[in-house]
Amino acid sequence: MFQRGDILELTIESSAFEGVSIAHSDGMVVFVEGAMAGDVVRAKVFKTKKKHIEAKVIEVLKASPQRTTPRCKYFGTCGGCKWQHVQYEAQLAFKQQHVVDALERIGGFKGVNVLPIVGSDDLYFYRNKLEFSFGDEAWTMIPPRKPPETKTESVAADFMSAEAKVFLGFHVSQRYDKVLDIDECQLQSNLSNDILRLVKKYSLASNLPAYSSKSHSGYWRNLVIREGKNTGDVMVNIVTFEDRPEVVKELAKQLSAEFPEITTVVNNINTRKAQIAVGEIEKVYYGSGIITDKIGSHVFDISANSFFQTNTRGAERLYSIAKEYAELKPSDIVYDLYCGTGTISIFISDAVKKVVGIDIIESSIQNARHNAEHNAIQNCEFIAGDLKDLLTKDTAWMNNNFPPDVLIIDPPRSGMHPKAVEEIGRMKIKRIVYVSCNPATLARDVKMLAPFGYSIEKVQPVDMFPHTFHIESVAKLSNPIV
Ligand SMILES: C[S@@+](CC[C@H](N)C(=O)[O-])C[C@H]1O[C@@H](n2cnc3c(N)ncnc32)[C@H](O)[C@@H]1O
Repeated sequence: MFQRGDILELTIESSAFEGVSIAHSDGMVVFVEGAMAGDVVRAKVFKTKKKHIEAKVIEVLKASPQRTTPRCKYFGTCGGCKWQHVQYEAQLAFKQQHVVDALERIGGFKGVNVLPIVGSDDLYFYRNKLEFSFGDEAWTMIPPRKPPETKTESVAADFMSAEAKVFLGFHVSQRYDKVLDIDECQLQSNLSNDILRLVKKYSLASNLPAYSSKSHSGYWRNLVIREGKNTGDVMVNIVTFEDRPEVVKELAKQLSAEFPEITTVVNNINTRKAQIAVGEIEKVYYGSGIITDKIGSHVFDISANSFFQTNTRGAERLYSIAKEYAELKPSDIVYDLYCGTGTISIFISDAVKKVVGIDIIESSIQNARHNAEHNAIQNCEFIAGDLKDLLTKDTAWMNNNFPPDVLIIDPPRSGMHPKAVEEIGRMKIKRIVYVSCNPATLARDVKMLAPFGYSIEKVQPVDMFPHTFHIESVAKLSNPIV
């Protein structure tokens, strides 16, 4: 019998997905956080289930040769980067294998042509957006009792619960009441870290409390920093529970004086309970309230709450592969399904006759229309609605646009609705490119297309998010009977 708090010595056999590794103890499967295949570790049990237990590394006794020193001092607690302790080449190998395994195990596709994964050019500072939370309770790091003896010992860093007025950082995984108080993150940019520190100092000095979801009161809620990676624009969005113009005005003044790179400062006021960094009201305190970024030769306007791919350079690469796999011709009509703010539609628009983009979020469709107009693009049409309904019953939009020559499908992590897959199968379109952020749903959806004659010609995995378990892939489908 295992119990919470038990300390186990484990030899890690393999690395599974989502940042956990696998070991056995007395015949029981142990999912281990913070480990790596080839490690021998001491780990503390934090969850026991009938068929497995879950444990977290507290000490590395023998390090796997694929280990490396995590660069971030919050690694292991923040929960954002699960794999900073794994050398990048090994991370890529896991991700590649994960795509192959999902296609085989979930899709039943053996021997698929999965091309060698494309790694990210930037291993750190690759994100163009980070969202920090304020809180009145926090995990704070306890300084190590003794200096680390091995380079891997930092994984055992301890944190404790603390109470003060204002903390600023990320919510600790599974502790949504507490914030991990941080002064830097390796994923956005040094400038963004400097901004984080200034805003933290200012909020502490303000004598205003952080918003508390328990009492539904307080002031400071979120800090969102967005950067145009290809333009240099920077937006600081302060999300608050109340409207206090004098507080944000002074903060905007200090931010713009200290960091001339900042092009706009806005204040979203969110008086709802929902813990989202989106306000019912937005006030602009500096600049225009909008930044721009570029993908390929196209310019995109980004306001505080618009959706935009979080790794600009990675998105450009992903879209280029999708464009190549679509083998576009000037006479083509393309459906960009799950188009978001129309970035793929706009990216491919110069190579085809027409693109029709569809997305369920009305504001994304409005952004897509605006983006097309901004780039003087006239051959893109955007339609708001649930794809399943637009394919099964509300089909009037197809009258002038049928049949399409190419489908580019980029669904959310949950994949496609089965009815949408079925309709697409029936449409019998020769060229289909499936852009996926979840190999499991890619495999499941293509398996549903198989009875219609589709199979996978090739898959290109692309790593856009180093140190996390996320993996994108572009699959080219083929159908000999179309
Ligand atoms: C992975 S994002 C793709 C965004 C876009 N292609 C891009 O690269 O920026 C998935 C999109 O699917 C949309 N979506 C989710 N469910 C949908 C549905 N049932 N019908 C239409 N769009 C949906 C979401 O709003 C989101 O914009």
